[in-house]
Amino acid sequence: MTAWGGSRKGESGFLLGTSWKMTHRAADATRDAERLRMAAATGNSSLELFVLPPFTLIEPVASRLTGTGVRVGAQNVHWEDFGAFTGEVSAPMLVDVGATIVEIGHSERRTWFGETDETVRLKTDAALRHGLLPLICVGEPAEIRDVGRALEHVSNQLRIAVRDVPSVAEIWVAYEPVWAIGEHGKPANPELVEEILAALRHLLGDLRGPQARTPLLYGGSVDAQNAAAFAALPSADGLFVGRAAWTAEGLLEIAAACAAEASSANSQA
Ligand code: PGA
Repeated sequence: MTAWGGSRKGESGFLLGTSWKMTHRAADATRDAERLRMAAATGNSSLELFVLPPFTLIEPVASRLTGTGVRVGAQNVHWEDFGAFTGEVSAPMLVDVGATIVEIGHSERRTWFGETDETVRLKTDAALRHGLLPLICVGEPAEIRDVGRALEHVSNQLRIAVRDVPSVAEIWVAYEPVWAIGEHGKPANPELVEEILAALRHLLGDLRGPQARTPLLYGGSVDAQNAAAFAALPSADGLFVGRAAWTAEGLLEIAAACAAEASSANSQA
């Protein structure tokens, strides 16, 4: 077994990543990036890891993880390339510091910073214009607990987000029910996640065409105990983790759980 080894369904590896949100200072980032670099050096993984540090730490983390296969990216981006937008960061600026991926439309951005479906669409376009891979987050709010309404909600979010995305462009989509995220969140039932992901896959096929490849991830209170159950879902191509993966050790523990699930699935195949 490698550091997070094992093989996965599909031609590319199972995606596993974390947003550090606003948790890390420089020393924390250096430590975690070093741990991931060492783990990657001894690994021969079919898991594809990604880490989204705060803006200030993208460059040092990206430079430490160059050549490891671990993608590094941002948690947000502005839709314009340049101009008088105080406090904002553009896609070309992210490219300059080594980001290759950008999270767009996380529920905390929607709740606290006025992110709308329309700004998610604009940001997705900006990311793609500059060669960044958009990780688009969708999820129903706490007051929606009915599967049909949840699906309607996330389908609308997704329809708007991908409206202008060419079918050749690679995007990732994370389903993250708002009620499952954060310290007051409860992980979703894996059956519900499978139902929503399968429906989103179908919708994406209609919207983007059958040839477009759109990996689907689940996020919301994922941890080392429940990761395998989500990783085993036929429609899940990856997991997007917050708290439980804020340390490199936490991320690697979840990676090991996903790898163990994959090798038991392979041995049964
Ligand atoms: P959590 O966060 O794992 O801490 O619930 C998930 C997310 O915000 O994507």
